[in-house]
Amino acid sequence: MTHVMKSAALQTDLQNQEDQASVSNDRGKPPKVSNPLMFLRRWAANPLQMGSIVPSAPSLCKRVARQIRRNPDQYVVELGAGTGVISKALLDAGLPPEKLYVVEIVHDMAEHLRQVLPGVNVVEGDARELAKLLPDHVRGNIGSVVCGVPLVLLPVAEQRRFIDAIQAVAPGVGFLHYSYCVTSPLPFQKHGLTAKREEWTPRNFPPASVWRYTPVR
Ligand SMILES: C[S@@+](CC[C@H](N)C(=O)[O-])C[C@H]1O[C@@H](n2cnc3c(N)ncnc32)[C@H](O)[C@@H]1O
Repeated sequence: MTHVMKSAALQTDLQNQEDQASVSNDRGKPPKVSNPLMFLRRWAANPLQMGSIVPSAPSLCKRVARQIRRNPDQYVVELGAGTGVISKALLDAGLPPEKLYVVEIVHDMAEHLRQVLPGVNVVEGDARELAKLLPDHVRGNIGSVVCGVPLVLLPVAEQRRFIDAIQAVAPGVGFLHYSYCVTSPLPFQKHGLTAKREEWTPRNFPPASVWRYTPVR
């Protein structure tokens, strides 16, 4: 069997298992936020876009959530929310759902996020177009941005597009970024940023850090 046929067969198999999982959800239980089958299927379809084969573990989600800074009227924006496990940790840490905007490029995942995160603003789209995706009252009123898009896998010029998009809606705020790299996943000086590793956990696959990047004034 060729590589392409094997990959297509894997995706079909994963889709069938995922469909069965959502059928059993229909029989009573609310859908779970973490959806490893959906995640794995998306990874098989586009590994660079996902950057991992499993959703973020609870330990990592909690560590991201405790690094959030905001005034009570400010919003939090999460880019590349995936299955929504980090979004859920933000809510569990006390963020009101209406103050959270999550951006996800994959249609199925955006639909899943709408199902499992009632009250949260789910935006389906490309985070590089952030200024066009967020409403007027949110732009310029953002306390924290969490970037889940695997920037380390992108060329520097592509990374810059995400960084510029964040800077356009949240000037001077910077962003939190979780990563499996031992050192900074971004060449921060090239991007005019300062970098600080705020958190690390071995209880994620793979072990992960939470970095805070802030524009140099
Ligand atoms: C590492 S995964 C997020 C993992 C998430 N924390 C979880 O555990 O489910 C990265 C996510 O970024 C999304 N993504 C990649 N490129 C994107 C883009 N340009 N705009 C918005 N989302 C993007 C992918 O579809 C994927 O869901």
